[in-house]
Amino acid sequence: MSDGKDEPVLRVENLHAFYTSKSGLVRAVNDVTFEIKEGEAVGLFGESGSGKTSIALAILGIFDRMSRYYASTSGDNENQQLWALKDKAKKQGLTSADMEIDLPGVEGHIWYKGNDLVALDEKEYRKIRGNEITYVPQGTAVSLNPYSKIAPQIAEAIWIHDEDGVFWEREVARLVLETLDVVELADPDIRQNLKPSEFSMGEDQRILIAMAMITNPVLMIADEPTTAVDVGVQRRILDAIMLVRDKLKIAFLIISNDQGVIAQTCDKIAVMSAGRIMEFGDVKTVLMSPGHPFTRALIMSNPSMEVIRKIREKGLRIRGIPGNPPDMTNLPPGCPFSERCDYAQDICKEEIPEYREVEPGHWIFCHRYEELPKF
Ligand SMILES: Nc1ncnc2c1ncn2[C@@H]1O[C@H](COP(=O)(O)OP(=O)(O)OP(=O)(O)O)[C@@H](O)[C@H]1O
Ligand code: SF4
Ligand SMILES: [Mg+2]
Repeated sequence: MSDGKDEPVLRVENLHAFYTSKSGLVRAVNDVTFEIKEGEAVGLFGESGSGKTSIALAILGIFDRMSRYYASTSGDNENQQLWALKDKAKKQGLTSADMEIDLPGVEGHIWYKGNDLVALDEKEYRKIRGNEITYVPQGTAVSLNPYSKIAPQIAEAIWIHDEDGVFWEREVARLVLETLDVVELADPDIRQNLKPSEFSMGEDQRILIAMAMITNPVLMIADEPTTAVDVGVQRRILDAIMLVRDKLKIAFLIISNDQGVIAQTCDKIAVMSAGRIMEFGDVKTVLMSPGHPFTRALIMSNPSMEVIRKIREKGLRIRGIPGNPPDMTNLPPGCPFSERCDYAQDICKEEIPEYREVEPGHWIFCHRYEELPKF
């Protein structure tokens, strides 16, 4: 009998998420499938603009709102009509395929506790977002209120979701101190009464992590937790994430374009380009023996010493990624890496590869995986 350990806490299935823009639909997420098991940390790793944050926004149920914003503020009629069509289709339970036109917003499934979050109404979502599924957003500057002490800001997540009045003030105050202690903020009992500007950037980031853990979530999403900080500060932020993992045993989705961050914090990795997962698997396998040409090239853009040694030993020739990522409003008909891949053949330019499991737990999106030299 299953002990529930292998059950996914979240399963993203055939997810699509499109923005509207002046140049047409921005195909930010294209047919993405992966799952996060209980207590597991999955990393989303990839080029800038490959759709990592968009996946987070879709899981949090705020992608459509962000995406609709442009259409409603720009006065762009065509896009407003597309949104009207999307609303109509959603009400009738119809998809882009049923309507025979590509529609903006999220489509597909995000399974969580037996419910499909894509179909959930906003009232139900509010019980989950910021409570069971929490988010440490990309960039701390916009996330903390500069005029308020940090203690009430951290406590707010509990009060917002405490509709039944279960919590006592004293209990919440204790939880605030406990969470600040887990993320190793020095002198939390005194410094909880300071405002965000009185902390360093790395400390602010750890305060956001404390904020995201105080509700004892099922899943925490951390988007680029270490951008724009020096190596020492990065170390402390990653330590804080690992301490939260150890203490709460919650599942994590960690977004980063730094393979070191993923290697240090995650069990699994999804390598993304042009809104697709190119390779998914165990972190060590994918980073040390990447199977996909895109993963190999991305790793070679900033290789670890171990990888350099391995390449020399095997006499392989792999270069970093040449050229630019494809235009997300006008993706090529086949593999999105075909314009930049050293192994591309006609089929790559014409047909979308199948995303398939090449060995247990290891998924690849490539026509030619079996023929490629092994890494
Ligand atoms: N509000 C928006 N309206 C239109 N297009 C958007 C919007 N937000 C993002 N995009 C586009 O969607 C695509 C995916 O963006 P996303 O932010 O998900 O990428 P990312 O992988 O998180 O990148 P980064 O590493 O730079 O944070 C990009 O082409 C981006 O320019
Ligand atoms: S499908 Fe073709 S173009 Fe795409 S990564 Fe594989 S070999 Fe390269
Ligand atoms: Mg991002």
